[in-house]
Amino acid sequence: MIRIGKLELENNIVLAPMAGVTDLPFRLLCKRQGAAFAYTEMISAKGVHYRSRNSFELAETIAEEQPVGVQLFGSEPEIMAEAAKIFADRGAPLIDINMGCPMRKVTGNGEGSALMRDPELIEKIVEAIVKAVDVPVTVKLRRGFDDGIETAPECAIAAERGGAAAVAVHGRFRGEYYTGHSDWSAVGRVKKAVSIPVILSGDVCSASDAKEALAVSGADAVMVGRAAMGNPWIFREISGLGGAPDNAERFSVIKEHLSLLREFKGEQTASSEFRKHAIWYLKGLRGSAAVRAQICRTEDADKVAEIIDAYFEELERN
Ligand SMILES: Cc1cc2nc3c(=O)[nH]c(=O)nc-3n(C[C@H](O)[C@H](O)[C@H](O)COP(=O)(O)O)c2cc1C
Repeated sequence: MIRIGKLELENNIVLAPMAGVTDLPFRLLCKRQGAAFAYTEMISAKGVHYRSRNSFELAETIAEEQPVGVQLFGSEPEIMAEAAKIFADRGAPLIDINMGCPMRKVTGNGEGSALMRDPELIEKIVEAIVKAVDVPVTVKLRRGFDDGIETAPECAIAAERGGAAAVAVHGRFRGEYYTGHSDWSAVGRVKKAVSIPVILSGDVCSASDAKEALAVSGADAVMVGRAAMGNPWIFREISGLGGAPDNAERFSVIKEHLSLLREFKGEQTASSEFRKHAIWYLKGLRGSAAVRAQICRTEDADKVAEIIDAYFEELERN
């Protein structure tokens, strides 16, 4: 169990926010396998300010998957506070601020990881949001913006001073994007610098990774990102509640994923988005390379489902 402000989580394993991945269907499947918490994909505070439909769609949720934090990106305290209030008023149990996105189109506007160059602004943004909402406010950092210059501890201190209830740290510099390895000991230095809970992010791919990451860093919780793609079962594995799925379970969750995509995102989006998930689910399975290549060439979700049916039937026969 872990407490973030007034929010109590059932365990200390959470699904990392991932743009283009952690939508409602995927979050729901991870929650069902034991993730204690999840975040929306990052949502532009400016988009919310201008009432962009997409920004609101990204925050759609249902009761079964709660608690789900809304992650905002932006750099202007008033606009961030306005967006945070809109989502908190609609029931979001936590607002997270993205301070880790390395993409140039985001950092070029002074948003995402670019905020890590300016701890004073971090404090102002957190303070403005904390004043505007009645739910915990958290931040997600990287190790630092400029290569080799570790500013995560001072940025975490600034966030704590602004009233943040927890801080998540991905132990890579901005310029590393997703290469190399997340430095878990850097997360440990943040843990030593603040007294709010610290969530470790980066390269937690198994139960033994989670154990080691927590031991090395002293962090309070871990986030799982890429290792959950096509593998929502990782949450039950890390929490010791179950193992890898057999073929029948894998097959039924893949089908459930397609049906959730259709239900919540409509047929057209389901077709375009199901392929990538299907390919992740089949990765590493016996003889799946040819099937994955076939799925890559197929647009229609029904056809992808047929290919998957045939593949699992073949697996059962052999
Ligand atoms: C495709 C993708 C999208 C991501 N989008 C976000 C995002 O929207 N917000 C965020 O804070 N981090 C984002 N991240 C970073 C992850 O939350 C996480 O910190 C990072 O992937 C390292 O953890 P992992 O090794 O468990 O994947 C993204 C990562 C990936 C791979």
